[in-house]
Amino acid sequence: MDIIDALLGEHGALYAALDGVERISGAATSLAEVRAQASLLGAAVQGHSQLEDELLFTVLESRVASAEGVIKSMRRMHADIDDALARLRVLQDVGPARDLLLSVVAMAREHFSAEEEFCFPLADQALAPDVLDRLGAAWAERRGVTIA
Ligand SMILES: [Fe+2]
Ligand SMILES: [Fe+2]
Repeated sequence: MDIIDALLGEHGALYAALDGVERISGAATSLAEVRAQASLLGAAVQGHSQLEDELLFTVLESRVASAEGVIKSMRRMHADIDDALARLRVLQDVGPARDLLLSVVAMAREHFSAEEEFCFPLADQALAPDVLDRLGAAWAERRGVTIA
């Protein structure tokens, strides 16, 4: 199990979640509704970012000097999404909260797409297949996925 394939699979599931949040939150009329959506989406996106950072980025930056700029940029995008989610949690009005949640959706789509275009191909090219498989096994263990 290659870590890149695992993370791409997570993007696929997250894209579907982003579509759902956009549809439901776009029509939300209460702050509680927007907060509930933000909380679910935040847990899914931040759980993904954390695994990516701990498993892939850390290994990539320790082994591939040329990946430094790309990783810095990906981590900046993770931090921007985290900041927006933190700001959202303290908003008291439904309109601004909904707008910020929709902008988190857009930021996440843009970020996943940047990883797919720049970061994952770089990792795939720069890391040896056995390293990618070992990281994939660590991913499966963290996610509770059984690989036969
Ligand atoms: Fe990411
Ligand atoms: Fe990702």
